[in-house]
Amino acid sequence: MTGHSQISLEDRVVLITGASRGIGAAIAQACADVGARVVLTSRKQPGLDEVAAQIRQTGGTALPIACHMGKPEQIDKLFADVASELGQIDVLVNNAATNPYFGPLIDTPESAIDKTIEVNLKGYLFAARAYVKHLRSRSAERGSIINMASVMGMRAAPMQGIYSMTKAAVIAMTKTLALELGTSGIRVNAIAPGLIETKFASAIVENPTLREHVVKRTPLARHGQPIEIAAAAVYLASDASSFMTGQTLAIDGGFTST
Ligand SMILES: NC(=O)c1ccc[n+]([C@@H]2O[C@H](COP(=O)([O-])OP(=O)(O)OC[C@H]3O[C@@H](n4cnc5c(N)ncnc54)[C@H](OP(=O)(O)O)[C@@H]3O)[C@@H](O)[C@H]2O)c1
Repeated sequence: MTGHSQISLEDRVVLITGASRGIGAAIAQACADVGARVVLTSRKQPGLDEVAAQIRQTGGTALPIACHMGKPEQIDKLFADVASELGQIDVLVNNAATNPYFGPLIDTPESAIDKTIEVNLKGYLFAARAYVKHLRSRSAERGSIINMASVMGMRAAPMQGIYSMTKAAVIAMTKTLALELGTSGIRVNAIAPGLIETKFASAIVENPTLREHVVKRTPLARHGQPIEIAAAAVYLASDASSFMTGQTLAIDGGFTST
């Protein structure tokens, strides 16, 4: 029987992109807390080493490896290196994303369009491709991909148009991958956070006018913290969610419910 009422990631390796801070770091710690060995990746090694040290201090096992998710050759190398180091990758958390442009959609410079699509969309898809290839090489009978989307992919997103387009595409990608990989035992789900206090969102959280604009549309009347996303990722990674695929879980204080 699959499924489990107690959440555990014992004997699992979870690879998390964008794990040097924010939501990715919180997910990594939460997965390690329930027994997973975690692979932490982002562009810059020092931040990854710090998160790995914190996880080790709490008794966890963490492997920090730098990788730029906009560079397909680095992604393939990452999966090859982790497979040879740890022998297995059981769960992929596609979380690293970029949002280099703030302004009207029609004025977006082509360089910002390309960068956003390369990291947020092609990066997720190429990581999923490398992960599935790895699972097939091991004849693994199950897998779980968790894609970090955003409520901005579900609503109009003034001044963040190209970013929101990639997040809507991530939700579409989640559904198609779920359908195509379901018979291989690979589940694919997404999380759509609302406004969460991280470096990524600091321009909004630290600007009273912009923050209030979001908060007044949020039933819980506040923004969230990375830890409030982490447990959902642990659930989606684990067998506790064994009958769930193709879904996008909004964790947004109710922002998309109104
Ligand atoms: N915060 C929010 O309000 C919010 C809301 C909805 C969705 N999200 C989503 O949540 C995810 C995490 O965001 P966050 O808020 O936790 O941001 P964050 O604290 O700024 O963290 C972003 C992480 O991504 C890494 N990263 C950035 N570009 C990368 C690249 N090209 N290749 C590899 N790693 C890269 C960063 O590390 P390096 O600098 O070392 O590369 C860092 O670890 C993103 O997908 C974001 O779209 C956030």
